[in-house]
Amino acid sequence: MRYAGITERLADLGGEKWAVHNAAREKMARGEAIIELTIGEPDVPVDPALIEVCHQSMLRGRTHYSNGRGEVGLLNALVEKYRPRHPGITTDNILCFPGTQTALYAVITALVDAGEGVLVGDPYYATYAGVIQAPGAVLQPVPLNIENGFVMQPADLRAAVTPQSRVLLLNTPHNPTGALLDADTIAELGQIAIEHDLWIVCDEVYEDLIFEGIFASPLEFAELRARTIVVSSISKTFAATGFRSGWAVGPAEFCTKLLPISETILFGNQPFIADMTEAALRGTFDTAERMCRSYAARVGMITDELATCPSLKAGKASGGMFVMIDVEGTGLDGEAFAWRLLEEQGVAVMPGASFGDNTRDLIRVALTKPDETLREAMRRIHAFASALATKSKAAAM
Ligand SMILES: Cc1ncc(COP(=O)(O)O)c(C=O)c1O
Repeated sequence: MRYAGITERLADLGGEKWAVHNAAREKMARGEAIIELTIGEPDVPVDPALIEVCHQSMLRGRTHYSNGRGEVGLLNALVEKYRPRHPGITTDNILCFPGTQTALYAVITALVDAGEGVLVGDPYYATYAGVIQAPGAVLQPVPLNIENGFVMQPADLRAAVTPQSRVLLLNTPHNPTGALLDADTIAELGQIAIEHDLWIVCDEVYEDLIFEGIFASPLEFAELRARTIVVSSISKTFAATGFRSGWAVGPAEFCTKLLPISETILFGNQPFIADMTEAALRGTFDTAERMCRSYAARVGMITDELATCPSLKAGKASGGMFVMIDVEGTGLDGEAFAWRLLEEQGVAVMPGASFGDNTRDLIRVALTKPDETLREAMRRIHAFASALATKSKAAAM
C-alpha cells in the first residue's frame, strides 16, 4: 500500500535512538537489576492538591468540549505568568495545547514549508528532528560544544544560517546538556535572527529547573517579541508530565494563524485539565524547588565522583534534568560506551548520538534517580572507564 511522505520522513526517528533504553527495559523485564539513567521523568509526584482540583472539576461537569484557544481562566492565568516578561500580553497572544510537544508540532507546522530550514543547537531534544521533518523542513544544526558549556555561540549560528533558514529553535534550560542561555547571549542570537528575518521558537519547558544562573527568555526583549514564540507546559515545573498541558505564547497575528491548525489537530483541550493547570499556575507549589535542590546536589555529586577519572569529563549542567559526560578519553564513542556499560555494569545511559551528530563521543545521564542509586551508577561508570584506560595502556606497551 502507498503511504504519505511524512511516514518515510519520520520512519527512522523512533527505534535506533532508543535501542539502549529498550534493551535495558528488556533486561529489567527479565528480572536483571539495571540502573536506568536513560530517560528523565520527574521523581516527585504531582501535588495531591492539583489532582483534587482536577477531580472536583470533573465532578462539576467540566468534561465537555473546550475551544481551540483554551479555557478563559487558564488563558488569564498565563497572561499573568508572562506579563512581567511581556508587558503588553493579552489572551490574544496565547494558545493552549496538550503539552509542549504538540505546541512545537503546531508552531513549526505554521512556520515552515518543505525545503525550508530550522536552525537548532546540536545536540537537541530527541523529538525536534521529527517536528522539523514532519512538514518536510530541514534541520540545520548549530554545534553546541562542551568547551562553551554547550551554549550556542553567535559565530556558529551565523555560519549555519542559509537563505532557506526560517526559524531559530532555542531550548533553555537545555535538554540534553543542561545549558542555560543568559540574556546577553539571547540578545546576540536575537540580533542574528533580526538580520536574517528568522522566527525564534523558544522551548522553555525547564524554566523552573535551574540550579545555577538566571533564566532569560527572548520574550523579554521588546525588539524580538514580534518574531518570538515561546512554548512550555506544566510537565516539568509541576512534575505533571502525564496531564499533557502546555501552551504557546506569540504575536497575536501568529496566534490567529495558529488557531485553525490547533483546531484541526485537537478540537480543543480538556477543561478539567485546564482548571488544574490554572490552579497550578496561580498557586504556590514547591515541586520544582524540591526537584531543583536534589538535582543541583546530584550534579555536584557526579562532578565529584568523576573528577578522579581522567578519561571522563562531566559537562556543566545549569538546569534541566540531565548531565552529559564526554567519554572520548576512554577510546570508545558514546554508543559503544553505552552498550558495554549496560552489558558489563548494568547501567543504562543514552548515547550522545541519540541527540545529534555533535555529541557522538558523549553520553547523557538523567538526574532523576535517588542519590544513592545515582552515586552507585557513577562508581560503576568510573570503574568501567578506568578499566578501559588500563586495558588500552597495557595494549600500548
Ligand atoms: C526540551 C523538551 N521539550 C519538550 C518536552 C516535552 O514536554 P511536554 O511534556 O510539555 O510535551 C520535553 C520532555 O522531556 C523536553 O525535554
